[in-house]
Amino acid sequence: MRLTVDGQTHEVDVEDDMPLLWVLRDELKIKGVKYGCGIAACGACTVHVNGEAVRSCQTPVADVDGPVTTINGLGRPEALHAVQEAWIETQVAQCGYCQSGQIMQAAALLAENPAPSDAEIDEAMSGNLCRCGTYPRIRAAVKLAASKTGRA
Ligand code: FES
Repeated sequence: MRLTVDGQTHEVDVEDDMPLLWVLRDELKIKGVKYGCGIAACGACTVHVNGEAVRSCQTPVADVDGPVTTINGLGRPEALHAVQEAWIETQVAQCGYCQSGQIMQAAALLAENPAPSDAEIDEAMSGNLCRCGTYPRIRAAVKLAASKTGRA
């Protein structure tokens, strides 16, 4: 089947029910997408399909009906995405394992709601777990990213 990922089109020869995460990591070698729980309960594997945040570990590749964006392609080709810049400025990451999923979730939130309230940020990010407890910095970085877009 044919998949467009981070602006590039790929032909992949895989079973229809293979999770998108497996295709991204094992077939296309896009390692920025992380395997966390495997049951869509932690958010580490979050990518965008048609701009929507999805859990790639529980998305059969045959159900992918549009372009996929991973953390590797979020800011390309020009520069880092505003969310990535805000994450760096805020020094959000601790171990870092959850962070590509957090950033993809935050980017999807801001695409839909450019000036979210604290409650809206907490709600949107509630499915993305961080064992290091970086939640206060995540919220601060989302607000910083919103301000960078000039709409907050
Ligand atoms: Fe370690 Fe989130 S930074 S799990």
